[in-house]
Amino acid sequence: MKPFDCIVLAAGKGTRMRSRTNKVLHPFAGRPLVYYPIQAALAAGAARAIVVCAPDQDQPISAVLTPLFGADRIRCVVQQQPRGTGDAARVGLEACSSERVGIVCGDTPLLEADDLRALWSGMADNAVLSLLSCHLDDPSGYGRVLRDAEGRVRLIREHRDASPDEREVREVNAGVYGGVTAHIQAALSRLSSDNDQGELYLTDIVERLAKDGEVFAQKGRPEALLGVNDREQLHRGESAMLARIRTRLRLGGVTIRDHVTIEDTVAIGVDTVVESGAVLRGNTVIGEGVCIGIGCVLDNATIESEAVLKPYSVVTDSSVGTAAQIGPFAHLRPGSVIEAEAHIGNFVETKKTRVRRGAKANHLAYLGDGDVGEKANVGAGTIFCNYDGFRKHRTVIGAGAFIGSDSQIVAPVVIGPDSYVATGTTVTKDVPAQALAIGRVNQQNKEGYAPRLRQRLSRGTDKGS
Ligand code: UD1
Ligand code: MG
Repeated sequence: MKPFDCIVLAAGKGTRMRSRTNKVLHPFAGRPLVYYPIQAALAAGAARAIVVCAPDQDQPISAVLTPLFGADRIRCVVQQQPRGTGDAARVGLEACSSERVGIVCGDTPLLEADDLRALWSGMADNAVLSLLSCHLDDPSGYGRVLRDAEGRVRLIREHRDASPDEREVREVNAGVYGGVTAHIQAALSRLSSDNDQGELYLTDIVERLAKDGEVFAQKGRPEALLGVNDREQLHRGESAMLARIRTRLRLGGVTIRDHVTIEDTVAIGVDTVVESGAVLRGNTVIGEGVCIGIGCVLDNATIESEAVLKPYSVVTDSSVGTAAQIGPFAHLRPGSVIEAEAHIGNFVETKKTRVRRGAKANHLAYLGDGDVGEKANVGAGTIFCNYDGFRKHRTVIGAGAFIGSDSQIVAPVVIGPDSYVATGTTVTKDVPAQALAIGRVNQQNKEGYAPRLRQRLSRGTDKGS
């Protein structure tokens, strides 16, 4: 087959979405909705996608798509007025230089390359136009494929223009076409807007072309056809896409329990287990043999092999090294780098902090803007006091240092290697290597005083009562 362009219709108003966001840019399993039909079209053999955009939308759409597909494979053109799919196709064809052309709708994300290949591989044959159709139990909303007594495709009637008898037809139009550019162009130039919406329907070319030659309808899979016009369809489509992603990963060697969300952008190595309720988003990359515990939420996280994330840990724009242990209930905020074999335990929050190999902060701590040396131990309740209300300051802890529980480290401060900070110390100045830092009020014991205090308190004569 000679190289051909594919026109992607994406300039509609998307009124039924009731959204300020352009319909085709709505997030869908981690990517913009329009990514999927374009990906399928290019994988099925189209050389270029010509994306028809609404005014002022060509820039944002191009900015999203160009890095994903490359500037030579995406061309955005503008349909000045949303006058219907026929007008949008006409605009797209003006930029098309191939003898044959494919057309897809930008709102059909479940189409796969195989669906399109099946249709487009026949493009070189006799048919002037090929289209994808399928049988639906509930065809409402879709255009109906109407055939003549011999079973030849005669025309497509939009749902809202169809008679009650025509609405009984269950064969619907998927909005995917392929054919001879010149024929399609000629048919488009003669469209009329004499229909319920007063629009120029691309589907009306079928009736014209069926008079000149054969229009061939290729039967497609119902599950591939869903058009996203409203939020309910967005939800149904996304659920189907997420199920597809889970199946792909499971067949690739990942154990995934129920109620797990994994976006299309996420990569996971073999023998990793993803427990129930986990949500994996963005450019998250997970190595082999990792355990992602119940309810973990990962966004742009890099997790190296054999790491263990215990339940309900949240990792955002951060990395976790080999065999490190995180959680339960840990919060790794942006810029956290937890190196191999380090431990971050329950109710520990980190931000812009490197926790080096084998270091531990096992309980209730805040480590912000810091660097914790190899095998250092940060005790329960330790706080890096990094913010003075105006600026953030750094805490540096050397290798092998021991930070006793409930210490406040008032940054900027450097605590030397193998030093020892006594429990409850407020560290305000640097601690030399191997030194002991201790700063706490001396304790007094008053012998036999406890019963007297209790008596006084129970009589209510104590000033504090
Ligand atoms: C369309 C088809 C219908 C088919 C269904 C499949 C027409 C008239 N109807 O209906 O037969 O069953 O898709 O999902 O083609 N668009 C533009 N410019 C416009 C109008 C629309 O670019 O002026 C784009 C939209 O952004 C969208 C696509 O074309 O991506 C389809 O438009 P939409 O309004 O969703 O058509 P449907 O009613 O779904
Ligand atoms: Mg639609």
